[in-house]
Amino acid sequence: MKNIISCEQFSRESLAKLFAHADDIRNNPQKYENSLKNKVVATLFYEPSTRTRLSFEAAILRLGGKNISTENAREASSAIKGESIEDTIRVVQGYCDAIVMRHYDKNSAVDAASVANIPIFNAGAGSGEHPTQALLDMYTIVRHKTCIDGISVAVVGDLLYGRTVHSLVKLLALYKNIKVYGLSCSALSMPQEYVDYLQARGLKYFYCESFHDVPEDVDVIYQTRTQLERFVNAGMEIEEFIIDQSVMNRFSETTLLLHPLPRNAEIAAEVDCDPRALYFEQTHNGMYVRMALLDGVINETGF
Ligand code: NCD
Repeated sequence: MKNIISCEQFSRESLAKLFAHADDIRNNPQKYENSLKNKVVATLFYEPSTRTRLSFEAAILRLGGKNISTENAREASSAIKGESIEDTIRVVQGYCDAIVMRHYDKNSAVDAASVANIPIFNAGAGSGEHPTQALLDMYTIVRHKTCIDGISVAVVGDLLYGRTVHSLVKLLALYKNIKVYGLSCSALSMPQEYVDYLQARGLKYFYCESFHDVPEDVDVIYQTRTQLERFVNAGMEIEEFIIDQSVMNRFSETTLLLHPLPRNAEIAAEVDCDPRALYFEQTHNGMYVRMALLDGVINETGF
């Protein structure tokens, strides 16, 4: 793979290879400490980020690479002067060996890759996709479940604007006999294109209106934040589905709870001590998955 733009680029085999690579980096960090020696990677962020930017930058440094960064490119780069993404990429690629980019436009990663002669990593494109987040989500699930075929996953919250969900369902679509339960208010339900994507690949999608519509033995609950910053209609009526301990108590001992973070009130702090809550583990896994992606793509060794 030359770029990481969408989860559609992945197959079961490439996922397995990526996750094995992430495990190897985790277990043998010294083996990889010079993997990006003499490489400069730019992190170009037009939207706020804590985890994605810092874990990418930590990954670059831990692989022995160097990093140039603009953390508020929307205001602090030439975008404010009206420069297009394409022109920015044409310029920045002259300074570095790869670009990690987060942008508010859904098509930004595709636009960037269309003019780039170095790898582009999509670190979140508007309300479209966020593939590296979904890859770390999937890696976390794989570390806890022996088999992914046949699992059921409840995606909860903002399924309309939540780009991490959009990418995750595309990865789930690689497996067999998967059931996806979509729990959201009707204003924030999953865009039809993603439901069609799942159904075309033989997955079952169930629209849910409350936690009672989600089976008690569901394998994974993937909670998300309401993406208020993307609301087109500020007065839109929405209902949130909050997970507190009483909600978690309804589910099986083996139900995993994931969230891409940051969270607001949609997961109560009391749930953090529940052994099924994996969101802080996800953030840590993210660094290894991003190390594997950077190493695999920039050094052309992977997947
Ligand atoms: C997510 C994002 O940016 O889409 N955050 C992340 O990268 N972990 C989710 C969110 O902002 O709610």
